[in-house]
Amino acid sequence: MKASFLLGFIFLLGVSACSQNVEKQLTESREATKQLGSHLKQKLSQSMQANGPIEAMDVCNIEAEGIAANISNNLGLEVGRTSLKLRNVKNASDDWENEILHYFEQQKQSGAEIKNLEIYEVTKDQDGKWFRYMKAIPTSEVCLICHGETIAQPIQEKLHTLYPDDQATGFNIGDIRGAFTVKLKM
Ligand code: HEC
Repeated sequence: MKASFLLGFIFLLGVSACSQNVEKQLTESREATKQLGSHLKQKLSQSMQANGPIEAMDVCNIEAEGIAANISNNLGLEVGRTSLKLRNVKNASDDWENEILHYFEQQKQSGAEIKNLEIYEVTKDQDGKWFRYMKAIPTSEVCLICHGETIAQPIQEKLHTLYPDDQATGFNIGDIRGAFTVKLKM
């Protein structure tokens, strides 16, 4: 357990030694994922309590994108969510994200705690240099209502209408549901 956590940590340190400016980007990325996570959680639990899970689905369906866009604009970066098992194809991972999602799964298999799984890297493409960051999202009990193995019939129906290709079910508590992802131009 210790060893795998250390591995992740060394990866982080190893990358950071190569560039000087990354502390700032790392702080901003962590801030963006923290904001997105807490805004979504707050909205979700408010609307679950007020109107139940069927209505709450609209928070995820309609509002999640807007909430992420607001935080992205405010902080001057792109923050979002992705997963190996997607509900909304708009959240699909690119190659780098896909690799990291698999890396997180491996780390979890070796005993790492999901809440400690984060990674960053500076990448290059034809548009220049990017700071990229990801943080794993654990599955907790409340998530099972819409992402679990047995989902109530009316919820299933709504999910099926909104997302005919939904893959984001069958999760258990303690699984990695997905990850927050940040992309920042350097
Ligand atoms: C009320 C139903 C509902 C609950 C409860 C819920 N989700 Fe979702 N979740 C959705 C819907 C709907 C989407 C698709 C959002 C979209 O269209 O962008 C989604 C998308 C996601 C995504 C984005 C990746 C993808 O598959 O498109 C992640 C990550 C996620 N949920 C994690 C969670 C976690 C973690 C919890 C528990 C804290 C949770 N969800 C609870 C309905 C729910």
